[in-house]
Amino acid sequence: MSRIQSLKARQVFDSRGYPTVEVEVILNSGVSGRAIVPSGASTGKFEALELRDGDPASFSGKGVTHAVENVNHRIAPALIDFDGLNQAALDQRLVELDGTGNKSSLGANAILGVSLAAARAGAAFAGLPLYTYLGGVNARRLPLPMVNILSGGLHAGGQIDFQDFLMIPVGAQSYSHALQMTFDVYHSTRKQIQEKGYELPGLADEGGFGPKLQSNLEALEILLEAILMAGYSPGKEVAIGLDVASSHFYAQGGYKLAAENRMLDSLQMAEMLEQWVSKYPLISIEDGMAEEDWEGWEILSKKLCHKVQLIGDDLFTTNAARLQQGIERGIANAVLIKVNQIGTLTETFETVELARRHGYLPVISARSGETEDAFIADLTVATGAGQIKIGSIARSSRLAKYNRLLRIEEELGSAGIYQGAGVFEVLKGLGGS
Ligand code: PGA
Ligand code: ZN
Repeated sequence: MSRIQSLKARQVFDSRGYPTVEVEVILNSGVSGRAIVPSGASTGKFEALELRDGDPASFSGKGVTHAVENVNHRIAPALIDFDGLNQAALDQRLVELDGTGNKSSLGANAILGVSLAAARAGAAFAGLPLYTYLGGVNARRLPLPMVNILSGGLHAGGQIDFQDFLMIPVGAQSYSHALQMTFDVYHSTRKQIQEKGYELPGLADEGGFGPKLQSNLEALEILLEAILMAGYSPGKEVAIGLDVASSHFYAQGGYKLAAENRMLDSLQMAEMLEQWVSKYPLISIEDGMAEEDWEGWEILSKKLCHKVQLIGDDLFTTNAARLQQGIERGIANAVLIKVNQIGTLTETFETVELARRHGYLPVISARSGETEDAFIADLTVATGAGQIKIGSIARSSRLAKYNRLLRIEEELGSAGIYQGAGVFEVLKGLGGS
């Protein structure tokens, strides 16, 4: 009854208006599950391959009809009659069917769509909420959100190099309280930007503001002022996080800050970030060094691992083998988890598990190209990751996840656990040598 009866993909659209893959899995019992695959812009070099048609005459090359065909004609015949409840075996079958190291034969977008849709069908068959189906009856931890407020880099038309300036509502008493605090800071940031005389262009890819600022530091200043203006104590109630996304301005051994017209080597970059940590309520830095600058990462980790959360995104690409290397070299202390970087749900769980075993914090994350699919909201609760990063509190592609978590919070009621900034306790003593 839980065997796969049919499997079908179609091309739909994401929040940037680009085509993406949607998959529907129907089990013998008649229940079904559907999922849509997200897509990044500041993608890491070591991510699983997102298969695009590349035909300039159609969707500017961004079509995903080949990935759709791969689901319908290559994956579907191999999975008909497969037990839809056996997620690990199903994901393994997908990996084998693809047969490449980076899922370039079928496309990670094809594979992930099937993997996620099968999980949803499984949950429907079991009659359980997705987070319970995936995480068991003890999956009841709500996350501390890390919310994009100002955007730069490849996500905004402005000129600053750093990608995300995020608020972390560390003083929140609950998940919904965290969102209320986010509301306050988000709207006071808009006022700050306008008071400074900057024009407000349309929202950036993740729903944050992307004004044309003079420097990266100015974005940090504006966020700090917005926190104060909202009436919060910086650091105590609302802290700051950065996603530097530095791989995208790293070339020839240096970090090119175009907005400030200067070039930094790895040590200078680490020193600048160290200085910011001492001066600002900065408690989390993602991709402070580039994906291939392992030496730079070592410098940064020695300086800051015992003080702040250092997240590897492009560095690890949700890939257990890359995370293992990082663990061995004492690099970073947290890992960004994006399902489409690795391509199956089971491999995603494996990376989260590996992180946990070694005291690395997993942060479940959306992509800059998202959809109404809120799978990662359930995944966050299922893994008990304790942190999410899904963009700002604007645009329905973001709100689909935030709002789903509000519903889960309500559903769990007093059984829900909100650890908030307590998740950072694990980091104490890490990398302090
Ligand atoms: P991306 O951005 O989805 O464009 O990669 C998100 C991030 O860098 O964290
Ligand atoms: Zn990132």
